[in-house]
Parts: sequence; C-alpha cells; structure tokens
Amino acid sequence: MTPSPYIIDHIMTVMEVAFDPEYGEAWNRRQVSDALVMPSTHALVLDTRGALIEDGPDSGRPSGFVLTRHAADEEELLLIAVSPEHRGQGFGRELVERLFLRARERGVARIFLEMRQGNPAEQLYRSAGFEPIGRRPKYYRLATGGTLDAITFGRTL
Ligand SMILES: CC(C)(COP(=O)(O)OP(=O)(O)OC[C@H]1O[C@@H](n2cnc3c(N)ncnc32)[C@H](O)[C@@H]1OP(=O)(O)O)[C@@H](O)C(=O)NCCC(=O)NCCS
Repeated sequence: MTPSPYIIDHIMTVMEVAFDPEYGEAWNRRQVSDALVMPSTHALVLDTRGALIEDGPDSGRPSGFVLTRHAADEEELLLIAVSPEHRGQGFGRELVERLFLRARERGVARIFLEMRQGNPAEQLYRSAGFEPIGRRPKYYRLATGGTLDAITFGRTL
C-alpha cells in the first residue's frame, strides 16, 4: 500500500523539531515511508487541537504522531513525538489512548516499547499503564560517544 504523502509530511514536520539530535532517534523521510508501506505499520497524527488528522491536504497543522507495528496479537510502539510547542497539554497521552483503541480493534492483546534510559517519556508510559519488563545494557550509542541502556516496557490491553 502506498502511504499518503500528507501523513508523511505531517510526521516529518513533527519529527524535525521533536527529537534531540544527541540521541539519533529521529527517522528520515525514507525510513518513515518505507515503514508505512508495510500494512502492519500504523500511524496516528494529531492536529494542534488534539484531533486526529486523516489523509488529505486540508487537515490542519500537526502537533504529534505515533508510529507502531503489529504482528499477531502484539504491537510495538516504534516512535512517539509531540512538537515542543504543544507538549504538556495531554497530546502524548491522547496519542497513546487512541493507539490503545485502534490496537484493540486489530485484536492486539499486548503492547511493547523500548526506551533509552532516562527519557522523560517514561512518565507518559508509566501513567498510561506500561511497566518495565527488561533492560538491554549499553544498547544506545550517543553522538558524544557514550552509551545508554534500553528499557523495555509492556502493557496488556
Ligand atoms: C514524550 C512526549 C511524546 C510527551 O508528550 P506530551 O504531549 O508532552 O505528553 P503529555 O502532555 O500527554 O503528558 C503525559 C504524561 O507524561 C508527563 N510528562 C510528559 N513530558 C514530561 C517530561 N518531560 N518530564 C516529566 N513528565 C513528563 C506528563 O506530566 C503527564 O503525566 P500524567 O499523565 O501523570 O499527568 C514528548 O515529550 C516528546 O515528543 N518527546 C521527544 C520525543 C521522544 O523522546 N519520544 C519518546 C521516544 S520515541
């Protein structure tokens, strides 16, 4: 399936401002569009009022997105981001709650994600019901040469 160029534009608009370059977590346009070609990859995008943006040119300015991939009855949260100017207004939580609804419709029973140790996103994940279930030591390599552990979180839907 060809992903909508509008959705990719919206995701890239947020991607370009949301991630700290030190951690190298942002994806480029090619990575996003290649991922969205797969029918198992899903994107949700919010506008600046916190409403879902559907495909189309006149759907407003984006504030945040979440990208996931599902396999059988499990889904992995690949990336979530909210533009700095829209943070702290519940948009991250809204994306996660909408993801839970969509994932349940897909028959998903359990959601996973992997986070670098110390990412403040942990508060969002914990308050949305995720619990730490594993750790990969020194998994992330920083631009500055250091390393950080990856922490795996899981949640039953
Ligand atoms: C993580 C991120 C998506 C949160 O988005 P947001 O819209 O600000 O989150 P919300 O306003 O919905 O907050 C949700 C919860 O997380 C908490 N929270 C969000 N950002 C926080 C921060 N920087 N420090 C502490 N707590 C934070 C909120 O207080 C809230 O807690 P509550 O549910 O207990 O009240 C956003 O900070 C972001 O885009 N970060 C950069 C990208 C990133 O690192 N993504 C995660 C890895 S892919």
